Amino acid sequence: MRRFRMKDLVSMESLQPADVLQIFETTARLKRPRSRHRPYLRGKILGMIFEKASLRTRVSFEAGMLELGGHAIYLDQGNFKLGERESIYDVAKNMERFVHILMLRTFSHQAILDMAKHASIPVINGLSDDEHPCQALADLFTILEHRKTLMGQKLVFIGDGNNVANSLAYAAALTGMHFVCVSPEGYMLKDAVIEKARKKAISGATIQRAVNLREAVRGADCLYTDVWASMGQEKEREARAAAFKDYQLNDEILALAKPDVIVEHCLPAHRGEEITDSVIDSAHSVVFDEAENRMHVQKAIMALLLGRG
Ligand code: CP
Ligand code: NVA
Repeated sequence: MRRFRMKDLVSMESLQPADVLQIFETTARLKRPRSRHRPYLRGKILGMIFEKASLRTRVSFEAGMLELGGHAIYLDQGNFKLGERESIYDVAKNMERFVHILMLRTFSHQAILDMAKHASIPVINGLSDDEHPCQALADLFTILEHRKTLMGQKLVFIGDGNNVANSLAYAAALTGMHFVCVSPEGYMLKDAVIEKARKKAISGATIQRAVNLREAVRGADCLYTDVWASMGQEKEREARAAAFKDYQLNDEILALAKPDVIVEHCLPAHRGEEITDSVIDSAHSVVFDEAENRMHVQKAIMALLLGRG
């Protein structure tokens, strides 16, 4: 078995094309019924630190660790304010004595980088304000399952150019996709992300941003959307609803993409806001396959980081 190159999985930005390939190969293997409950990580303990709410990330990591024969410990924000009760360094130095691998969901991306720097054990990003790498890997694995290839596929993200869009931009660059992030002015993918993603792009991959929704979605193989106000932006909800109101993924927008377009959403969805029931419940939607794949991809990530891939 090839060793995984990385100690941690803190971002999509830090990965190389070969890492993504290795994660997908391991995911496909672990997803097969015969190996699904093999205890590759028997006796291993995952620590999960959450500063923000979660359904999928918490349950998919915990269930995944249980399927691999390990155990997971959940620390929520009531128990835990990273860097407040004690420093990130001290948390790292404690946790590495108790658990074998750590997953964090934080506001600050730097907090995850600091934890990875100080902890001797592997650290996984379970969403920060800047990135959601496990999500992007599950999203692309799902596209691969449904479309049989990623190379040359057009993925259009409709919404805020923040964490999920950032990770998708890097992921698309690493796998040869055509990525377009379409957003209202003021919420577009940042220059720095576009530049870094383009530098990582393998031959054939393109990374673009746009304001014109109808133009952007033409010929799309996959349409993707996310909430208009992310966790931590609750006070901006009204202003964002006004800014994003013309960026809803509805039947009219769906009809402009390829006839066999698939629809993704990281979830939770605010039905009737960024996506209509008619789209998320349509035959085009793969959102629950995508949610399930969070678990399979994360099992692969944990197995690879712990040298059991
Ligand atoms: N997509 C995702 O990360 O879901 P949760 O916020 O429920 O974990
Ligand atoms: N952009 C969203 C993603 C939730 C999975 C958020 O950060 O709240």
